[in-house]
Amino acid sequence: FRSFGFDRTNSMGINLANDQQLQALAAQVNAAAKTDWRAAPLVPGATVSGPNIAVSNPADRRETVGQWQAADSATVERALANAVAAQDAWNATPAASRAAIIEHAADLMEARMPMFIALCTKEAGKTIPDGVAEVREAVDFLRYYGQQARKLFVPEALPGPTGESNTLQLSGRGVFVCISPWNFPLAIFAGQIAAALAAGNAVLAKPAEQTNLIGYAAVKLLHEAGVPEAVLQFLPGDGATVGAALTKDPRVAGVAFTGSTDTARAINRSLAARDAAIGVLIAETGGQNALIADSSSLPEQVVKDAISSAFTSAGQRCSAARVLFVQDDIADKVTTMLAGAMAELKVGDPGLLSTDVGPVIDDDALKMLRAHAERMDREATPIATVATDNEAAHGSFFAPRAYTLNSLDQLHQEIFGPVLHVVRWKADQLDAVIDAINATGYGLTLGIHSRIDETVEKIAARVKVGNCYVNRNQIGAVVGVQPFGGQNLSGTGPKAGGPHYLPRFTTEKTITVNT
Ligand code: NAD
Ligand code: ALA
Repeated sequence: FRSFGFDRTNSMGINLANDQQLQALAAQVNAAAKTDWRAAPLVPGATVSGPNIAVSNPADRRETVGQWQAADSATVERALANAVAAQDAWNATPAASRAAIIEHAADLMEARMPMFIALCTKEAGKTIPDGVAEVREAVDFLRYYGQQARKLFVPEALPGPTGESNTLQLSGRGVFVCISPWNFPLAIFAGQIAAALAAGNAVLAKPAEQTNLIGYAAVKLLHEAGVPEAVLQFLPGDGATVGAALTKDPRVAGVAFTGSTDTARAINRSLAARDAAIGVLIAETGGQNALIADSSSLPEQVVKDAISSAFTSAGQRCSAARVLFVQDDIADKVTTMLAGAMAELKVGDPGLLSTDVGPVIDDDALKMLRAHAERMDREATPIATVATDNEAAHGSFFAPRAYTLNSLDQLHQEIFGPVLHVVRWKADQLDAVIDAINATGYGLTLGIHSRIDETVEKIAARVKVGNCYVNRNQIGAVVGVQPFGGQNLSGTGPKAGGPHYLPRFTTEKTITVNT
């Protein structure tokens, strides 16, 4: 594939170090947060009649922030029929016109940043800085895929024999289903949709059950920007019903999925079982991400980056560091400093600027994390637990924790929350550490902290991951700058926000003319 740079600069952010700007933003976010949000299927011609389901604030379950209605089977059927009928005309719309609509949506979203941050805070429990990053990433995805479509869809003349012309052209695949997770309810949701639309597909968008209000607002904005309503339809509902009904339907040409590895497997089986053309699956899934620090690294920097990588977004990032492998020479210093730094973290209401760690998404997540902490309390050595009163309050709060493990084998699954595990290693065990990381089968992010070039090169070459970060934190990949996505159990590739993503949403046609 041709590799395209990102010509436009990334979206404007807020200078989080400028107190005045931050206070002004917080005031706008808090004003927008008073909205009584609604979400329902957006499917032309469908009658929506299901019950209203209340959405509560993860930081305070007594507060209802909105209502949503699920798509029933008749609505799903109507959406599929609409999408099939609408796709040809959208595919025939010049790529530059599709791109202009998507780029217009980016401008609208950027202008409405406070409203989207408020939604992220109230529905997904994101802190305000996380909300800023979320909106910026969504805007960047919209611009990146819009811009890429303008370039990719220009038919390419290929060299050939005299008396013949050969052209390669791209086209949309058909109807694409986009299924997204709650932890990036705007950025990943909008990114998948933007790529599918830019490539000429009709889209059926299924948000995570926990974040329908955000998905609805994003789809309404894309419609306002000019995407025809039958080309982009919104289908909120359970994964096991609405998601599964969509992925088994033979009219679906492909699925863009981000979420757990188990769900990706289920979708893969569903696509394969259809009596239809073989559907494309683009899956971005979980990780068991490590950070390796050797004795040449700076303990202060290791701790700063470990805290950021493990606890930002309450650890609810697929990229988050779960295991810090620290060489024994500096391990005591690092764990002491880690405990000290964790004592400074503030767990609380994500709408307050003083909060570092907000709630986890729901009580199921809380239950899983509590069960893990109980096991770790028995089987590992506690390093620190952040002090907070919030765990006893009305929200889904879980205090960040760190434990020392004897070995990575003590972790049996991805722990999707603010828990960091530390494993010590000796100078002659670096290869064993790398083998253990590869043996998890996941391959999403890896952090390396070392000031020895040969060590960095060796680890980076041997560890099978999608994103490797050296002497910095390992979260927050920037669209067009750090294409993001993993390998093996972490996903099928291609990387979101990278040059090879959009082509997966297309088919290629070669036209040979005898001149
Ligand atoms: P999940 O797999 O439970 O749900 C993701 C989506 O799939 C939701 O919209 C859900 O409704 C839908 N779904 C569930 N069952 C389905 C089925 N049978 N058929 C079709 N759709 C179905 O994941 P989650 O808990 O929402 O998200 C957290 C997971 O996502 C973590 O494992 C995390 O690592 C991963 N994640 C990965 C990336 C990445 O880029 N690699 C990014 C964010 C999150
Ligand atoms: N793209 C997100 C990150 O890098 C998941 O943290």
